[in-house]
Amino acid sequence: MAESITTRINKLRDQIRRHDHLYYVENTPEITDQQYDTLFRELRDLEHKHPDLITPDSPTQRVSGRPLDGFTTVKHAVPMLSMDNTYSPDELRQFDQRVKKLLPGQKIRYMVESKIDGVAITLRYEQGLLTLAATRGDGSQGDDVTANIRTIPSIPLKLTEGETPTVPTSLFDEPTGFPQVLEVRGEVFMTNSQFEKINRIRSQNDEQTFANPRNATAGSLKLLDSRIVAQRSLRFLGYALGEVSQPFAQTHHETLKKLKILSIPVNPTCSAADDIEKVIKICLEWQDRRPELDYQIDGMVIKVDSLDFRTRLGQTARSPRWCIAYKFAAERAQTIVKSIQVQVGKTGALTPVANLEPVQLAGTTVSRASLHNFDELRRKDVREGDTVLVEKAGEIIPQVVEVIIDQRPQSTHTFALPEECPECAGPVLKDEGGVYIRCINPDCPAQLIERLRHFAARGQMDIDGLGIALIEQLVKASLVSSFADIYKLKAEDVASLERMGEKSAANLIEAIEKSKQRPLERVLAGLGILHVGSRAAEVLAQELGTIDALMQAEKEQLENIDEVGPVIAESIYKFCRDSHTRSLIDNLRAAGVQMTGTEKSAEQYSDKLADQSVVVTGSIAGYSREDMNSLIKKHGGRPTASVSKKTDLVVIGENAGSKAEKAQKLGVKTMTPEQFLTFLEQ
Ligand code: IVH
Repeated sequence: MAESITTRINKLRDQIRRHDHLYYVENTPEITDQQYDTLFRELRDLEHKHPDLITPDSPTQRVSGRPLDGFTTVKHAVPMLSMDNTYSPDELRQFDQRVKKLLPGQKIRYMVESKIDGVAITLRYEQGLLTLAATRGDGSQGDDVTANIRTIPSIPLKLTEGETPTVPTSLFDEPTGFPQVLEVRGEVFMTNSQFEKINRIRSQNDEQTFANPRNATAGSLKLLDSRIVAQRSLRFLGYALGEVSQPFAQTHHETLKKLKILSIPVNPTCSAADDIEKVIKICLEWQDRRPELDYQIDGMVIKVDSLDFRTRLGQTARSPRWCIAYKFAAERAQTIVKSIQVQVGKTGALTPVANLEPVQLAGTTVSRASLHNFDELRRKDVREGDTVLVEKAGEIIPQVVEVIIDQRPQSTHTFALPEECPECAGPVLKDEGGVYIRCINPDCPAQLIERLRHFAARGQMDIDGLGIALIEQLVKASLVSSFADIYKLKAEDVASLERMGEKSAANLIEAIEKSKQRPLERVLAGLGILHVGSRAAEVLAQELGTIDALMQAEKEQLENIDEVGPVIAESIYKFCRDSHTRSLIDNLRAAGVQMTGTEKSAEQYSDKLADQSVVVTGSIAGYSREDMNSLIKKHGGRPTASVSKKTDLVVIGENAGSKAEKAQKLGVKTMTPEQFLTFLEQ
């Protein structure tokens, strides 16, 4: 018995590692996310039942449950050097001359790859197991960030030996083995889309946003609680080696290929160039192609390919002679600050924003730039009327880089910290240094509009048609001054507003009506409680089930909920004990908003497909594949990608291909889309 469980556990681990490799290294996933989750869950459950079988390299062990007290410093076995930089093609030619002078008569091949703008990390594998991950630090010693690095799914906890070696492996005893000690160096970074997502959530929760993906990555790696790091979806790409106990490869090109076989994702933008003019061409091409990548690169790295040549070239005190970075000049533009405006967020946070004389920058017209917070504003001493340099922070959010002091007009003055809310003139609360300033008037109209927008938006109550413009009109016409007022709206009131007709008013009322059925987690996320974003709302709804249970919960009870820390607990507790909140909840209830259950329970239509694996093939008029999959789930089924003997049902649409044939061959039950939809509706 124990034997078969061990076998199953090992098999699941191997499968999960293989799928991680396909997803993160090869970029060619073979199974859906749900199928992956099923494997993962089975493994986690088995390990839960048999804790003695847990090993440190199991895919479930990526996150340690225990926050660290601090980071320890570790000495690098081989120093992590820095690189010489240049911004000009001519200096690349000079670099080439220097290399050739030191290697007379040799033919030099260069490898050119992107310079990823993240955080340099070294990963140490001993006997194939990840034993240490450290930051670069000062180059000779860095911070031990192993616990945080273990949460990054693309970093293997255990090296895989690959199937067929695609490169000569004459240096190895075993064709696909690895050295006993192998240190891989590379960059940990955050994709642009993930960065935007995190900043969106942070600003929704009135938390300070990160200026660019690199800061977000560095900030994440410094977190002491690796459970939070795990949610940041960091990535890794390898590009160099540190200590190796045995020769690994003869060229850089071969190094990357071998790392890939071992499941280490490597820099994909690597190409060979046989002369420096080709190198320059590749660099200039990538400068233009930057937007194709979903992550930030700040230049290209040019490396001598042959490791033997590298040894002969050696290094100076700071950097190797065999490589150089060609940096892209950040796109900057000069413009004038017309005014500095203070915006009020939905929980009252005040943030400074610069209104600019419109200017072209990296393909878009920029007329506003973030000043992040009052500390930044003071540090840069940006004043109305100043000429400033603006830059796209990682080509995403424009920001003011610096003031051109020489061009400052005479009559400017430092921007004064707001003493009152710019929208309602209500009282503000400042933290010690005045970095964060918050309006504390609960009836502040700016907060009201922002809060109503958030409440009605897609991830929350999802009231179709209730966007910012309409909300502004409703507030202005005194038709709405709280969440509950939305539910008191009548079609006639709405129809009388500008640009609204009877039809659109009726549609809005219908959308409002529909939103009453949203589960508790959506309502909670919509209320805009400080620090409670959609994830916290989901956890709370799952744990407590009803709004009444939440309103009555004691602080300790809230703190004991997994993923709810003391800060969130305190914020919810305060919110629930507030008399405004009580009347708000009473009013929502009176209006018919249900406020119970979770997304899952609310969306369950039936269990007609309970535990059945359903494959959809071909196209179905009016339904996307996501629609079909979500429909299957709502009826308790499991949408599955491929047909096998275990498939319970195959729905065959227009132009179906091999899956339909396979279903017939295996004798799996099939339905036309019409039969399927009728079956579900019955
Ligand atoms: S090779 C001797 N390759 O750039 C250093 N570095 O300025 C060998 N970096 O700290 C490093 N992308 O964080 C190399 N493709 C790449 C890189 C890269 C980014 C970073 C790395 C290093 C910094 C040096």
